[in-house]
Amino acid sequence: MRVLVTGALGMLGSVLLPSLRAEHEVFGVDLNDFDITDLPAVARAFHELRPEFVLHLAAMTDVDGCEANPAKAERANCLGTWNVGRACAETGAGLLCVSTDYVFNGRGNRPYREDDCPNPISAYGLTKLRGERYVQALVPKHLIVRSSWLYGPGGKNFVATILKLGKERGELRVVSDQRGSPTYTRHLASKLVELLAARVYGVFHVTGTGTCSWFEFAQAIVHGYPRVRVAPISTQEAARLARRPAFSVLENRRLAESKLAPLPHWKEGLAQYLKEIGT
Ligand SMILES: NC(=O)c1ccc[n+]([C@@H]2O[C@H](COP(=O)([O-])OP(=O)(O)OC[C@H]3O[C@@H](n4cnc5c(N)ncnc54)[C@H](OP(=O)(O)O)[C@@H]3O)[C@@H](O)[C@H]2O)c1
Repeated sequence: MRVLVTGALGMLGSVLLPSLRAEHEVFGVDLNDFDITDLPAVARAFHELRPEFVLHLAAMTDVDGCEANPAKAERANCLGTWNVGRACAETGAGLLCVSTDYVFNGRGNRPYREDDCPNPISAYGLTKLRGERYVQALVPKHLIVRSSWLYGPGGKNFVATILKLGKERGELRVVSDQRGSPTYTRHLASKLVELLAARVYGVFHVTGTGTCSWFEFAQAIVHGYPRVRVAPISTQEAARLARRPAFSVLENRRLAESKLAPLPHWKEGLAQYLKEIGT
């Protein structure tokens, strides 16, 4: 298939492209090619590349940045997704859009299912949810894949930040009252390729197996560095600009219903990533 990937230079895009290339003719585009908020530019790219399927990853992903500049977040995550959705609708292309656990408010007491009602508490979550709605309204052949707590090569991520700060400072304070599922981008990328091949549609939750708090995740990251100490703090003490869901574990129910294997445990993903970066 001719597959177009937006956000191809981002953290997920950079590992997804090689996995897709094994089976498809792949065109990766990013902000330096064209801005997805520019509809004529999006239409030109579709005309030129004639994709049969689009994997839409491009987004404004800085959660506090979105809160500080909601108009910019809305342009990238809503208008940009609308434009990509419209181009797919006009050309008959299928669309897989990657979304987030932050569409939920995090007040639940069991893992969120695909059909639970989203209720975002941040500009990032709200703009991503509106993007989801546009995809559902515009493109009959669509997939919305919600993932969470991504880390992997080719981008700024929690694991790399903890390692860097741990080595520099020796002591870290990390939030212990937010719970989720860390997801290794290479594991997610393989599953996106499988989902495409399986020709399934609708909303899917796809995250690393198992759950932890950011504090527990940080402890696991610096496990091999006995000199680095990690102390738990509350969300309130962390005083970040955007609110985050306290509990954003996603039940990967539709994967199981579709007879697709779950992703490996987040600890396995972490071990693979640490090996990959040579720590
Ligand atoms: N990171 C996570 O923990 C996480 C969790 C769940 C879901 N997701 C979703 O997964 C997807 C991929 O995330 P990621 O972590 O790989 O993000 P990322 O590293 O920030 O990559 C996003 C890419 O989109 C590009 N982009 C932003 N605005 C654009 C625009 N207006 N036009 C064209 N390109 C634009 C960015 O370019 P610049 O870098 O030049 O701005 C960047 O290369 C996103 O849709 C995100 O919402 C991420």
